[in-house]
Amino acid sequence: MSPDAVRAAELLHDARHLVVFTGSGMSQESGVPTFRDEETGLWARFDPEELATPEAFRRHPGRVFAWYLWRWRAIRDALPHAGYRALVELEDRFDRLTIVTQNVDGLHARAGSAAVIELHGSLVAFRCLDAGHPYDARRLEELRHAGAEEIEPPRCDRCGSPVRPGVVWFGEPLPWEQLEAARAEVDACDALLVVGTTALVYPAADLAWVGVTRGIPVIEINPQPTPLSSHVALAWRAGAGVALPELASALQASLPAT
Ligand code: APR
Repeated sequence: MSPDAVRAAELLHDARHLVVFTGSGMSQESGVPTFRDEETGLWARFDPEELATPEAFRRHPGRVFAWYLWRWRAIRDALPHAGYRALVELEDRFDRLTIVTQNVDGLHARAGSAAVIELHGSLVAFRCLDAGHPYDARRLEELRHAGAEEIEPPRCDRCGSPVRPGVVWFGEPLPWEQLEAARAEVDACDALLVVGTTALVYPAADLAWVGVTRGIPVIEINPQPTPLSSHVALAWRAGAGVALPELASALQASLPAT
């Protein structure tokens, strides 16, 4: 067992309420690209200003919609890796374990995590642009894709406005209820695990700093350093798919405080 796993288990030994704050690195070992990794990150290959803003969608609906359809198809085939399953296993180890994720791929829920707060929406929850009327993603199967650069978004049956992905675009507010719920969890928890995020995008990244400021044990799992790294109790330089199963085993080995 790695010294980091032993140290992490020590830090979490007496915790009763754990919050796990995840970013796209959590899904990297499931084959879902991150955003800012060199070469492989989405923003290394695509321009977020051209694809991930309401203005971009109004300017080029076909190009933006085709890109999200490509991402939607990619995550449908992704499977939660062992790190996701370890987080489900850890639910038995704590009185309360809440996942707060920036990810839109739905992999935490698909893995079976019981309490997941999606701060940046969901790539499978399509809705119409003007009124937010839900649009059943299964209807998108019919759309010919074949790598087309532009696909005209379907129109809402109820109001005729174009259908958009249910993700939070740059410049849009985060869903208020989810953000409030996430903040309440981080304010109340007694340990915080930060997995696979550069912690650069606010207000989501604020949550990691709340844990640091509160002085509770904060553990970061990330192969690379981030702005958080020098402020956390443990900067565990490993992938989520390796570290989380190790953490689950180390915690199983050390019984919870009675
Ligand atoms: N395990 C853990 N962490 C990993 C792994 C892995 N296997 N692979 C990469 N990482 C780390 C990277 O080192 C990086 O620090 O995951 C992090 C991914 O960072 P970003 O690509 O910036 O993704 P994220 O932090 O989730 O971005 C936040 O930015 O573009 C917006 O809305 C988007 O939710 C996203 C937000």
